[in-house]
Amino acid sequence: MTTATQKAPRITAGERAGIPPRRMDFEFADETTRYWYGDNAFLTTFWATMSALFPEGETFFVDSVKNYRHKIQDQHLKDQVSGFIGQEAMHSKEHETFNAMAEKHGLPANTLDKELGGLFRLFRKYMPKKMQLALTVALEHYTAILAEQLLREKFHREMFRDDEAYKLWMWHALEESEHKTVAYDVYNTIGGGYLTRVGSMAFGTIVFGLVVLTGHMRLLYADGSLFKWKENWKGLKFLWGWRGLFPRLGRQYFDFYRPGFHPTDHDTVQLLEDWREIMLKEGGILAGQIKNPSANR
Ligand SMILES: [Fe+2]
Ligand SMILES: [Fe+2]
Repeated sequence: MTTATQKAPRITAGERAGIPPRRMDFEFADETTRYWYGDNAFLTTFWATMSALFPEGETFFVDSVKNYRHKIQDQHLKDQVSGFIGQEAMHSKEHETFNAMAEKHGLPANTLDKELGGLFRLFRKYMPKKMQLALTVALEHYTAILAEQLLREKFHREMFRDDEAYKLWMWHALEESEHKTVAYDVYNTIGGGYLTRVGSMAFGTIVFGLVVLTGHMRLLYADGSLFKWKENWKGLKFLWGWRGLFPRLGRQYFDFYRPGFHPTDHDTVQLLEDWREIMLKEGGILAGQIKNPSANR
């Protein structure tokens, strides 16, 4: 029982909505394994490219939702928005730390991020706010399906060669999946329609496909690995081969174009329950102590 001297723990809006922003503080040692994903330069620089785009990217996501915050009446959605903003802000911060590690390895992650910031400044200036939100809905679908694959498919966990990198990516994946409905529901609430939603997905796929492709090539070049054909072929097959990362996402990606699609159509309730348990049991997620269950190296 709570007495006068014992204060009940304060529950934040995000926690109330099941989207708790968790304070993390990752640290990457100077001796962090250079090719921390699958001992492969192509794949490591692919994930480093993704990471490079997160700080500016997720700031844009947050801003596009904030533009409509005042229009939300439903208390539960308001709480979810608070959780979403808190989680994404923490992701930006932690990926900046990760990007600093990539910079130490000679990869121009901060340059990529800065350039993306320039692109988003143009979007903010010239794109209607509803389209900005629709673009966020589309890109959040990408992060949600990629996160689900990271959490669901064991082969990813077996590719990590650095525990801190493993913790960062799995924590981020968990939270992307936890808040995957928020931008979508805000978009629906403000009367966003089908054509703008799927049009933004097509636009986002082309633009960010090019951003990721060119960014990846630049990081690979900076690493001195652009012409390591054998290694790169291996990495390319991992991403685009018959059973590769992207083809495996295909069904879920195209599902977004279905009228009436909702992110909860891809059921991740049990998956998230399991992962929260793994992360808590193995050291406490709040301290950033997520152990790699398959890292028996
Ligand atoms: Fe995020
Ligand atoms: Fe997100």
